Order: sequence, then C-alpha cells, then structure tokens
Amino acid sequence: MAAIKRLGILTAGGDCPGLNAVIRSVAKEAIRAGIEVFGIEDGFLGLIENRCRRLGQHEASGILTEGGTILGSSNKSNPTRFAVGAEPDGKPIFADVSDRCLKTIAEHKLDAMVVVGGDGSMTVAHQLWERAMQSGIDLHFIGVPKTIDNDLYGTDVTFGFATAVATATDALDKVSTTAASHHRVLFVELMGRNAGWITLHAGVASGADVILLPEIPFTFESLCSFVTARSKHGDRYSIVAVAEGAKPTGGEKIVARIDPTSPDPIRLGGIAKYLSDEVESRTGLECRYVVLGHVQRGGCPVAADRVLATQFGHHAVRLLKEGKRHRLVAMQSGRLTDLALTECAGKQRLVGLEDQLIAAARGVGTSFADGR
Ligand code: F6P
Repeated sequence: MAAIKRLGILTAGGDCPGLNAVIRSVAKEAIRAGIEVFGIEDGFLGLIENRCRRLGQHEASGILTEGGTILGSSNKSNPTRFAVGAEPDGKPIFADVSDRCLKTIAEHKLDAMVVVGGDGSMTVAHQLWERAMQSGIDLHFIGVPKTIDNDLYGTDVTFGFATAVATATDALDKVSTTAASHHRVLFVELMGRNAGWITLHAGVASGADVILLPEIPFTFESLCSFVTARSKHGDRYSIVAVAEGAKPTGGEKIVARIDPTSPDPIRLGGIAKYLSDEVESRTGLECRYVVLGHVQRGGCPVAADRVLATQFGHHAVRLLKEGKRHRLVAMQSGRLTDLALTECAGKQRLVGLEDQLIAAARGVGTSFADGR
C-alpha cells in the first residue's frame, strides 16, 4: 500500500474548545513523518467550494491553547444535501454536490482526510468515503470525535466536553450566591442536544439542588414540591440545572428553531423560561432563569481537553501511517483506540439511567424531579 503523502484536515459542525489542539497535533505529527498537510476551510463547505490552504510548522504552532478553530467550521454544509438555491417562497433547493468535494480532493492530490466532527459530520464523512470508493478513488478517512455534548457513540469522552462542564459549573456556582441572597429558584439552561452529559456533570460539580436531563423525564409535582420544601429551610433558595433537551413526563422537548440547511436541523431551547414561568405560577416562589448558550463552546480549552485533543490527533496520524482508512479515533476505558466509522455514524450516546453519577447525585440529595 502506498504511503500517505498529502493529508487534508477539516473541522466540521459546531465548534468546541480543543479543535486547534487537534489541528496542531495532526499537522505537527504528519509533517514530522514527511506528509504534507492541507487545511480545508469551514468544514465540508471548503471541500465543496475548493477552499484549501497548506499548513506548515508555522501555522500549527502557538495554537494549542486557542479556542475556536483556525480553519473555521460550518454546520450548514452536508455535501449530499446542499442548499444550491431557493424556491420563490424561500424554501431551499437541495442537491447532492459530493462530486465537487471529490474534485477538490483530487485537485489537491489528497490521499487522506482527517475529519474532526460530531455524529453528523461522521455520517457525512462516511457517505463521502462510499462515494469515493464507488468512483474508484482510494481515500483514507479518519474521524476525530469532537463535541461539547459528549454524545458520540463509540468513545467514552469527546474533547470540548471538559471545558464546557467547567464553564457551566462556574455559571451554576455564580448564580447560587444571588439566588441565595434573594431566596429565589434559579433555572440554568445548559446545552447538550438530546444528551444530558454537560448538565449531569456540571450539576454534580456545583451541587445543584435539581438536575433535569433529557434521559429522565420530570414531573411538575415532584419539581414544585422539592423547591417548595427547600424554600422553607436555610437560605430558602434552589438551583436547577436543566438540559436544553429536558422534558416533562408525557411532554415534548422545546424546539427553539429549525434550520433546514443543517444536517442536524433541530435546535432545542426555551425550557428554562418555560419552567421558570410555570414553577412561579404553581408555587408562588420567585423564579429566574439563565440560558448559558454558546458561552459553553467558547474560550481556551481546559488542560484535560488539550491533553485529549493532542492524543486524538496523534492517534489519527498513527492510524494513517499504519494504512488504516475508515476509522474513528476513540477513548475507551482510559485507553486510546479506534473503531469503524460505520459503527458510530449517526448514533448518539445518551446518559444511561444506571449511570453511577446519577446514583451519586441522588446519594447527596439531588433531585431529578422524577418522583424518586
Ligand atoms: O452540538 C453542539 C451544540 O452546541 C449543542 O449543544 C447545541 O444544541 C447546538 O450545538 C447549538 O447549535 P448552533 O450553534 O447551531 O446554535
């Protein structure tokens, strides 16, 4: 098998802290192995629009601690369903532009691609790889799992998650003092899509009184009686860490917007305001809410994310040097490993109801407002 000579790297989907650390790790390791490295701009959009630039030692240096991504990202650029125009009523017209991506790859003579992304990006990478194979192009695709949500199937952890948890914990800590001063119930809405990982970890780390997760539907009876009981003791306040995907038993998640051009069109949001209004009217307690939003995706990666991102980048290049062509880098039980991209594409890893952290939280008296 011919050795890899020219490698492309792109960062796709929602950004997260640690992307630059991966780019640095992949580029430095590849350059040392004599591989030329090219950065694709704005995720798959750069492949569609042929925007690609060479990454040398200089570009890969000094970026370990920087948030965001020097390459840019986009979550509106699925080549198999790309918005190429609009109907008179404004509805987007979609077309499959995968061939444009393969043309860019061929023009720059890339024989391997590292795709740093979440489950949607891994699905796109898989589809492109299949298209390349059908066209007789021998392309090596290696996926590196990224997302603050920590919901990618096949890996125990994704980089960006630890930083998001640290940011969310800091916010929960900060609202505690003002909630205590005013004897209020304070709802803090945290990201995570359909998974409650950020909320569970930040909730436990900050000692939140109530944690509401998408995986454990809550009841208003349980929530209201818990915060009402707390309003009669001590500082008479409650902190509720609520995941954007949380929902009441028998109810639905609240959708904030739908973006039809995105591979993952549904954006959740609004649950904290809903709960704040509802709990205030049901209990008479004074309620406030905070939506932490994209703050969770910003800023410098914490040390754990820098370390994980560097390890993931190293493993990605190692797989390429070994001639692997369709793998996702992963961390399982504390060890770097990899699995077939097909195994994880399109799958989400949710919080298990038997997760030990849920039991530990219940052990210190945290409520999940599920009547237990
Ligand atoms: O997947 C990362 C994430 O930040 C989710 O937690 C959140 O639901 C979503 O992206 C927000 O997407 P956007 O940046 O498009 O608003």
